[in-house]
Amino acid sequence: MAAELVVMGLGHVGLPLSRAAVSAGLATAGYDVSETVVKGLSNGRSHVGGVCDAEVAAMLDVGFRATDDPAVLEGAQTVVICVPTGLTEGGLPDLSAVEAAAEAVAAWLHPGMLVVLESTSYPGTTEDVVRPLLERGSGLRAGEDFHLAFSPQRIDPGNTTWNIHNTPKIVSGCTALCAKHAVAFYSRFVDQLVVARGTREAEMAKLLENTYRYVNIALVDEVALFCHQTGIDIWDVLHCAASKPFGFAPFSPGPGIGGHCIPVDPRYLATRAESQGFAFRTLAAAQDVLSRMPDHVVNRALTLLTEAHGRPEGARVLLLGVTYKPDVADIRETPARRIAAGLLAAGADVRYHDPYVAEFTVGGRTLPRAENLQDAMAHADVAVLLQDHACYAGQALGQARCALLDTRGKAVGSRVTLL
Ligand SMILES: NC(=O)c1ccc[n+]([C@@H]2O[C@H](COP(=O)([O-])OP(=O)(O)OC[C@H]3O[C@@H](n4cnc5c(N)ncnc54)[C@H](O)[C@@H]3O)[C@@H](O)[C@H]2O)c1
Repeated sequence: MAAELVVMGLGHVGLPLSRAAVSAGLATAGYDVSETVVKGLSNGRSHVGGVCDAEVAAMLDVGFRATDDPAVLEGAQTVVICVPTGLTEGGLPDLSAVEAAAEAVAAWLHPGMLVVLESTSYPGTTEDVVRPLLERGSGLRAGEDFHLAFSPQRIDPGNTTWNIHNTPKIVSGCTALCAKHAVAFYSRFVDQLVVARGTREAEMAKLLENTYRYVNIALVDEVALFCHQTGIDIWDVLHCAASKPFGFAPFSPGPGIGGHCIPVDPRYLATRAESQGFAFRTLAAAQDVLSRMPDHVVNRALTLLTEAHGRPEGARVLLLGVTYKPDVADIRETPARRIAAGLLAAGADVRYHDPYVAEFTVGGRTLPRAENLQDAMAHADVAVLLQDHACYAGQALGQARCALLDTRGKAVGSRVTLL
């Protein structure tokens, strides 16, 4: 029987979306080009944090199936594309997965079908990249024969308050009718929909949201660098500024940004703007500051290692938390990798502790993993708190015998050095 919904790309976005659709009673199938992903899900194993094995098993029980066979698209009422939009080696937008997904849909497109792009991309992707591929491959016309929409995903992995159901969702269509069909689809499992004027506005809104974080993180990072140079306590500055009940949104400095959204999405905006003769100056300035933060942490750690051990070579450093975000098992683009590489290059003996990461490789080397936090801290010359996992909160890290470089402003104690 044809699926009501086919989700293309069963990753951090597609799998939670499938779960939400299944829970709303939609007959849902998932299509993914990765055999590993398909096999795992078919055997009831989740590879995405925030979706547990029991939930995958429950989805399978009510008819969800994952497949790498594009024939699953045959007769589907709605197709949602959630494939990756990363960067090429040269740092440019890589739309190859979106293009491949659109070509696969085109082969099975039928009149009345709703196709939604959820992958983040630059303004014009739905109209100028996806639409021609669908129309050329099918001979059908968007807005006349089938409906084409863009609806960016706002999922925040690890967020226990805001989920797919209660986070307002932006919806847009190539025509008003396309948008209407997309609204009808999403309103089955999303509480509040915000209809954009067109797909370009919705695409731009998503990039603005993530660029807003990017630029503001860069701002507090630069303020932190200045405060360090001038002997001002950045964490007290932030504490004071955040007491303003209006006109100030707090952001925290840190060792650098990571993940597949915040470091990547502004590149989509900047390169698209450049190709249209527009120079985004704030983005360039933010990128410059953000790219300096891992090296700043390395330099601060090397100073402490030299104080503790006489020289960095052979000194023992323990990295606490190597994921890019607190309490998620995601190390994509994590700044911890660059920091570890810098410390290794200086000859330090680098270990890590992270309850979420079983293996952490840096430049082809697997770092030794500390199982017991107290033992590892007793053994280290310097510990560097990189990620604010909840498990570190009650640990009195500042009381350990080793020096602690705290990049998150959490620890107190005479041996603690703040970012
Ligand atoms: N991860 C997030 O928190 C988040 C939040 C909002 C938006 N987004 C955006 O959503 C999109 C997907 O991100 P993600 O984090 O889920 O990626 P992901 O890497 O976790 O998952 C993508 C999945 O798509 C599959 N895939 C690749 N090419 C395919 C194809 N041609 N057909 C079918 N499947 C294919 C991959 O095998 C993978 O399983 C990206 O554009 C991303 O920027 C992500």
